[in-house]
Amino acid sequence: MSRVIYKEGREPHPREHRVVFKNVDREGWDPSMDMYLSEGGYDQLKKALTLKPGEVTDEVKKAGLRGRGGAGFPAGVKWGFIPPTNEKPVYLICNADESEPGTFKDRYIIHQDPHQLIEGMAISCFAVGAHLAYIYIREEFPEGAQILEKAIEEAHKKGFLGKDIQGSGFDLEIYVHRGAGAYICGEETGLIESLEGKRPYPRIKPPYFPAAMGLYLCPTIVNNVETLCHVKHIMEIGSEKWSQTGKPNNTGTRILCVSGDVKKPGYYEVQVGHVTMGELINDICGGLKDGRELKAVIPGGSSAKVLRADEKFTIGRGDDAKEISIWDIPMDFDSLAACGSMAGSGGVIVIDDSRSISWVLNNINNFYAHESCGQCTPCREGSLWMKKITDRVVAGKASPADIDTLDSVARNIDGRTICAFGEASSWPTESFVEKFRDELVADTNPELEGVVVNAETFTAAANL
Ligand SMILES: Cc1cc2nc3c(=O)[nH]c(=O)nc-3n(C[C@H](O)[C@H](O)[C@H](O)COP(=O)(O)O)c2cc1C
Ligand code: SF4
Repeated sequence: MSRVIYKEGREPHPREHRVVFKNVDREGWDPSMDMYLSEGGYDQLKKALTLKPGEVTDEVKKAGLRGRGGAGFPAGVKWGFIPPTNEKPVYLICNADESEPGTFKDRYIIHQDPHQLIEGMAISCFAVGAHLAYIYIREEFPEGAQILEKAIEEAHKKGFLGKDIQGSGFDLEIYVHRGAGAYICGEETGLIESLEGKRPYPRIKPPYFPAAMGLYLCPTIVNNVETLCHVKHIMEIGSEKWSQTGKPNNTGTRILCVSGDVKKPGYYEVQVGHVTMGELINDICGGLKDGRELKAVIPGGSSAKVLRADEKFTIGRGDDAKEISIWDIPMDFDSLAACGSMAGSGGVIVIDDSRSISWVLNNINNFYAHESCGQCTPCREGSLWMKKITDRVVAGKASPADIDTLDSVARNIDGRTICAFGEASSWPTESFVEKFRDELVADTNPELEGVVVNAETFTAAANL
């Protein structure tokens, strides 16, 4: 294999460990089949086809690959949920909706290395017994959809898709489906409804766990783009070697998308848990902007609970438990969960002391109020109420008691809805109020205390 050289100014940081992003920004690399084949492309699919499907699933289970789309659920375990006595068709869906604010990784894989995704999908389809798969791609990625269409056509011509792939007897078709342009289309059951040609109203789980009752009520595996790409690499080096990267229960590499107040925002593929928040911000991202101090970090996409810069966190259990600062949090699933937030989709949003917390929260609340699908009353009404209250806080037209109302609205959404959008929309408010109450209250007007706010004055105040 030739030495990998990256485009000038786009070289990975020395702390990076590029696997899925190996070809992203690579000098002389293009997304064609010829280029992919010149470096052993589709060899892993050929290898997988010589195994039994269950052996491929076992490899993915042993690797401990956790989903990179948000929930961090182990992919092999999910695949194992396909009922063994199933007689219905099985479907696989690649979730390329990439709609979580702060996340921008899947698009680069699609644009620069589409065959990696198709190979990962084909291996995964073989493992779960799917002969039909879809790539559900975000509506706003028209170029990505075209690139994928072309790559699928190329894969057909070379016999990596279609009937009797490479003489194995295994048949597979992959179709690209353009998304419907809403955040909720990224939620797996909303996505499935959308793929069926309906409004993306999420389904209630149970009973509609996709692996049991997914697309057309048949067993369906939904996985993120990055997750499916890892499958190819697990086949290439074997689960044992693959799982030596990262940390136990947090194996492999993952792409962190860093945005906000750092000198070098961007995408960085690192071994899971091998860099701390401080190393990510200060070494990899070049530090905070000059003269600025860290105020907070949202570590896993906008739905993740905010971490305050001066908080103390406890990670580890029993004798291993220790208190750490935000700078020392290892960037892995379990550590971020222990710190009260989540690794989520890998979108790390850095907030420095130039930012108004009220403004940041209001920005997030605007997004969720716009994106609620409207099926559940707490989410439909509550997301808009949260936005209206923070609109007023930002405008200096809220009373201090409004902060309690804001918190109460959030806590009455959380846990009371059909899908996890309820948590996604309420966790930012809950955590901002818990950790930055003083700052939010400081933006309110005590003279408005006790003023009865009806629908008219509510909106009027926000518009002032
Ligand atoms: C509101 C909402 C939006 C989501 N958006 C995305 C998305 O854009 N992309 C994605 O891969 N997963 C998204 N998810 C997670 C999916 O429902 C699902 O868990 C994921 O695609 C499974 O893939 P993984 O196991 O490989 O992570 C979203 C979840 C929720 C609740
Ligand atoms: S929680 Fe919100 S987004 Fe999810 S189904 Fe209910 S209304 Fe729709």
